[in-house]
Amino acid sequence: MAMGLTSWKLGSLLFFLGLYGICSGSVHENCTNYKLQFERVYSVPGDVAMLNSTLVAHDVFDYTLKPYNITWYDSRQRGKELSNQTGRILLQGETLWFLNVTLYDEGEYITILRTSSGCYRQATKLIVDKPVAAECGRPQKANQMVTNGVTDHVSCPLKDYIKKLDSYNITHSITWYKDCDRIVNEVGKFSYWDETKLKIDKVDLQDNGHFTCTLTFTLGGVTGSVSETIYTSVKEEYCSVPQVHEPANETIKAPIGSNFTKKCLVFVPCVGNRRCMVDIFWVLNDDFIEIDISERVYSSEERLWHQNAPIKGLWLEKLLIISELREEDYQINYTCRAYSDRGNPWGYFSLLPPDPCIIIPIGSALGSVMVLLISSVIVFYIFKIDIVLLFRQAFPILYTNKDLDGKLYDAYVAYPQPCAVGFSEEVEMFALHMLPEVLEKACGYKLFIAGRDCLPGQAVVDSVHENIQASRRLLLLYTASTFISKSHTGSVSSHNNNNVSKDSDGINNNESKTGDNINGESLDGGDGDYLDTRQQLECLEAMYKALIEGSLKVVLVELEEVTPAQLALFPESVRHLRKKQGAVRWWKNQRTRQRWKTCTRREDEEKGRQDAELSPSLSPSSRFWKEMKYHMPVRGKRAVYPEKTALL
Ligand SMILES: *[C@@H]1O[C@H](CO)[C@@H](O)[C@H](O)[C@H]1NC(C)=O
Ligand SMILES: *[C@@H]1O[C@H](CO)[C@@H](O)[C@H](O)[C@H]1NC(C)=O
Ligand SMILES: *[C@@H]1O[C@H](CO)[C@@H](O)[C@H](O)[C@H]1NC(C)=O
Ligand SMILES: *[C@@H]1O[C@H](CO)[C@@H](O)[C@H](O)[C@H]1NC(C)=O
Ligand SMILES: *[C@@H]1O[C@H](CO)[C@@H](O)[C@H](O)[C@H]1NC(C)=O
Ligand SMILES: *[C@@H]1O[C@H](CO)[C@@H](O)[C@H](O)[C@H]1NC(C)=O
Ligand SMILES: *[C@@H]1O[C@H](CO)[C@@H](O)[C@H](O)[C@H]1NC(C)=O
Ligand SMILES: *[C@@H]1O[C@H](CO)[C@@H](O)[C@H](O)[C@H]1NC(C)=O
Ligand SMILES: *[C@@H]1O[C@H](CO)[C@@H](O)[C@H](O)[C@H]1NC(C)=O
Repeated sequence: MAMGLTSWKLGSLLFFLGLYGICSGSVHENCTNYKLQFERVYSVPGDVAMLNSTLVAHDVFDYTLKPYNITWYDSRQRGKELSNQTGRILLQGETLWFLNVTLYDEGEYITILRTSSGCYRQATKLIVDKPVAAECGRPQKANQMVTNGVTDHVSCPLKDYIKKLDSYNITHSITWYKDCDRIVNEVGKFSYWDETKLKIDKVDLQDNGHFTCTLTFTLGGVTGSVSETIYTSVKEEYCSVPQVHEPANETIKAPIGSNFTKKCLVFVPCVGNRRCMVDIFWVLNDDFIEIDISERVYSSEERLWHQNAPIKGLWLEKLLIISELREEDYQINYTCRAYSDRGNPWGYFSLLPPDPCIIIPIGSALGSVMVLLISSVIVFYIFKIDIVLLFRQAFPILYTNKDLDGKLYDAYVAYPQPCAVGFSEEVEMFALHMLPEVLEKACGYKLFIAGRDCLPGQAVVDSVHENIQASRRLLLLYTASTFISKSHTGSVSSHNNNNVSKDSDGINNNESKTGDNINGESLDGGDGDYLDTRQQLECLEAMYKALIEGSLKVVLVELEEVTPAQLALFPESVRHLRKKQGAVRWWKNQRTRQRWKTCTRREDEEKGRQDAELSPSLSPSSRFWKEMKYHMPVRGKRAVYPEKTALL
């Protein structure tokens, strides 16, 4: 202490002497005096010391435009100008380097900066301390604090040297010492970090003490170093920077008119038992939001609680309440700010109106498309026949003209002949009168009706075969009893081992043989009479062509309602066809008006009124006849039909 005071006195004395020297040596000069730099340069013998003049600055003169010369003077030796001395002094622009400081170097050094028009003067003081035995010989120390229990660091206060060396492109390195013991990087709890910092893992009380950093570099041909010692004290009670967990700089969607609440949540990590002085506030446009329940937008009281694990600390919570959201509340920043001596971190959020629900319109659009689709499918199925007929009528061009396919008839009408099993007058009546009435007269189809158009004397087999061949359709007329005959039911047990009826047995044989076998089959079934055979032939040929060859379309015309029990006795082929393509049901048509039987009986009695009675069922626009027309061949452009008939 006494020594320091003495050296100061000596320094002052030398300074005044030096000043006198400069003034006496250059009386003519009138320099702007920037006096003594406040920053002292401290050094110890053997170290490198850097004195940097701050005259090359914009607030002094415009150094980028004006050329200048800098001269350094030693104030003690009557203002002697300094020059380069190898291994001792290096003058580098505004910087004076002492490459190997000695006790003698302590003193004030004057910088004179001259430009063509002006002159500036500044003094810089170098203090050289006598080396001391302890603490690595450094009496001057910086103080730093580290926090107990956490990872912390000490900083080397030689940033100015590093900055200057960097500007010279001079490489340098730092070595750290703990109480003068060298710290090896990456060993133990200490590690070198960020060029000038020493990281300490899990600071404890033993880290109280002296850390020294030494910067080594080569300058002016001399490898030198400069060191700083830091006295490090460990703080045991400490609050670190608050962490704003909520709001997290987010946008939140909330519907207008709703009661909105947002929580501000802040955590302050604490060490020791210190009461952390932290407050949190909701801020809107730089105004605090008050704890005033009468306001529409207000904040709640602060709530706080302590946490011990995993990190000891303090939680703070404050709610922001906006009752009844308004338009003006959207798209503005609500900020929660934490105020503490360690910093004022913040987080914000803003409100957005919720997205209009797009699921409902899309859903309803899809729904209506589905409904439309389903209803059009339903409508098509209900009015399929009408639609198809209408289409045929409207666009005959689209259909190929069947007139030139070599067929004579549009349809071959097959039904039980008189005297045959299953014959009924009603069926004959329908076949001979009603069918031609509507299909031929009204609709213009050409029919082959076995009982009407059969040429006398022609062989039954040939007649049936040829005429079916010459027809585009076969209308198979039947009643519930048409296929049920004594001869058939009787022959089941005698002819067949299996359960199928004889008719279907015949079909089954034909499946593997040619059409010639029809002849054999008819002869085989010898217990039926002539007309029964014709009917059988028609049926067989029709089924063969329809089911096996697929060359003939058979339309089943059901004249009477058939019970399931009756249906079971039908030939298997007819049942199959009926199941596959359905039957056109005359009895359904009749039921809405009058029973078929009643109708025909009355026809016997009152022939005069017959036409009037039947006219509804003879109307081509009735459901039954539409269905018939639907199944009949499509008629394209009919032109030559009469000629053809005449020809044949
Ligand atoms: C020095 O400059 C000041 C003003 O800048 C002036 O008043 C003074 O006379 C000058 N002295 C000499 C010796 O030139
Ligand atoms: C030295 O002084 C100059 C101004 O003359 C300044 O720009 C520079 O930053 C200083 N260097 C250090 C290391 O302080
Ligand atoms: C001193 O040496 C340095 C580096 O060699 C050089 O840049 C500087 O101009 C010299 N100064 C003087 C006054 O000779
Ligand atoms: C500094 O000077 C001392 C004494 O003059 C000498 O012993 C030492 O080697 C020098 N150091 C360097 C780095 O030149
Ligand atoms: C700087 O010094 C050189 C050499 O002594 C001299 O020629 C030049 O004029 C000086 N520049 C200024 C601005 O004083
Ligand atoms: C340092 O190096 C950079 C590029 O590496 C160069 O631009 C700059 O002029 C150098 N400075 C000195 C003082 O050599
Ligand atoms: C929110 O933004 C601020 C400023 O941009 C930032 O300091 C803060 O860390 C951010 N907070 C979160 C949780 O992202
Ligand atoms: C809005 O919500 C807050 C907290 O959830 C409640 O205290 C307040 O009474 C509510 N206000 C209205 C108008 O519902
Ligand atoms: C809210 O704050 C963020 C971060 O400062 C900023 O980017 C944004 O523009 C602000 N929004 C409004 C609406 O002021």
